[in-house]
Amino acid sequence: MTGSSGASGPSGGTVNRLRPRRSCLAVPGSNPRFLEKAQGLPADQVFLDLEDACAPLAKEGARHTIVEALNEGDWGGKTRVVRVNDWTTHWTYRDVITVVEGAGQNLDCVMLPKVQDAQQVHALDLLLTQIEKTVGLQVGRIGIEAQLENARGLVNVDEIAAASPRLEALIFGPADFMASINMKTLVVGEQPPGYPADAYHYILMRILMAARAHDLQAIDGPYLQIRNVDGYREVARRAAALGFDGKWVLHPGQVEASNEIFSPSQEDYDHAELILDAYEYFTSEAGGRKGSAMIGDEMIDEASRKMALVVAGKGRAAGLTRTSEFEAPEA
Ligand code: GLV
Ligand code: MG
Repeated sequence: MTGSSGASGPSGGTVNRLRPRRSCLAVPGSNPRFLEKAQGLPADQVFLDLEDACAPLAKEGARHTIVEALNEGDWGGKTRVVRVNDWTTHWTYRDVITVVEGAGQNLDCVMLPKVQDAQQVHALDLLLTQIEKTVGLQVGRIGIEAQLENARGLVNVDEIAAASPRLEALIFGPADFMASINMKTLVVGEQPPGYPADAYHYILMRILMAARAHDLQAIDGPYLQIRNVDGYREVARRAAALGFDGKWVLHPGQVEASNEIFSPSQEDYDHAELILDAYEYFTSEAGGRKGSAMIGDEMIDEASRKMALVVAGKGRAAGLTRTSEFEAPEA
């Protein structure tokens, strides 16, 4: 997990953009039973959906159901997000106004799907600012998550990532994306038959690079075979291995897998903390002010320290505690 932990909102208040997102649980906004159940699941983030999990005729009612769920529900410290409809529909402005006027105080981010260029993010930013000013919310506190779901969005991903200080995460939307580029598979997240390598590698890396260049989180989208937890794990591991911060979960059975896969292992976490301690010791006066250090046969330098900081940061955020301590060598 990287990111500027203290991005400053337009009104000067400090906003924490570095929220945990190992598991991002999709909840249809029109289903009060699911909205209730989601509150008890150990997902880092929930997003209450007004877009594709919500039928057109149910959207109007779902806006109000979501407002009630945000205001009355007990979300237990989870990151609370609402996915609105994309700007090519006629629903977006009303989604944002109803939800933010009604429950802005209890909302962390708005997720914007099918983002194609920076203007679409600007438009949402401006609308949020007007609502915040009108109803007396801190201007700039509500963040934006941008979903990349088509070729145009991916081609413009750098300008999208730079479009607003409200941005917190870029999200890959594989289902819409595969349709957009004519990829030959109907199983979302699985490899298309006949291609000998990872067909998603370029897209995932492109999103990850834009995210990291702008201090945003990178999140992998859904895996639709909800009963196939092994399949989910495999796809999630692919994104985690590249450096993604988390993945969507559509089913309670996927939550635990995602939390585990996007947290460092205990062994890696312990090792990262050891590297940080060793580096600090050996570069200090007491340790001889060296530029590098050794742990056993491993040389530790400034670059290793940076890598260790990322792993240690993820481990601390996941609530891991150390099981080993650094011991300075005898003088
Ligand atoms: C998610 O919205 C997707 O299209 O995969
Ligand atoms: Mg989609």
